[in-house]
Amino acid sequence: GAPYTADISKIEAGQMVTFAWRSLPVFVVNRTKVQLDALPSQDARLVDPKSDSGSAEQQPKYAQNEARSIKPEWLVLVGLCTHLGCVPDFVPVMKPEPFDPQWKGGFYCPCHKSRYDMAGRVYQGVPAPKNLLVPPHHFVDDTHIQIG
Ligand code: FES
Repeated sequence: GAPYTADISKIEAGQMVTFAWRSLPVFVVNRTKVQLDALPSQDARLVDPKSDSGSAEQQPKYAQNEARSIKPEWLVLVGLCTHLGCVPDFVPVMKPEPFDPQWKGGFYCPCHKSRYDMAGRVYQGVPAPKNLLVPPHHFVDDTHIQIG
């Protein structure tokens, strides 16, 4: 499949836009500082907080960091649950009722209730085994990301 160039210039802070790449949904999120600052508080509750063990293949090397991204605010994920491939919902609120009060939001899979944080890192105790996939991507310029 050909690479896809996503125009991110209209994605406001805290918003997600879904693009199509190779027939896959690709989520691009412009994370706020509050959302980024909350990431370390989730580590103890995650399957692979550093994205370096069970799911090391789940992101390119340049996204193998706490935010799982090239630039901290810009999260790029394949929007398919690592359990059986449903499309998770974006849940940007910090205290998403009626879920676990410790969850600071991220992605929720409606099929079998897997949860991910705002870096696509999967929680313990849910069916999904791995963090959401970060596809190969790079910045063409400040407002365009090439995926693939
Ligand atoms: Fe997402 Fe099963 S497909 S939890």
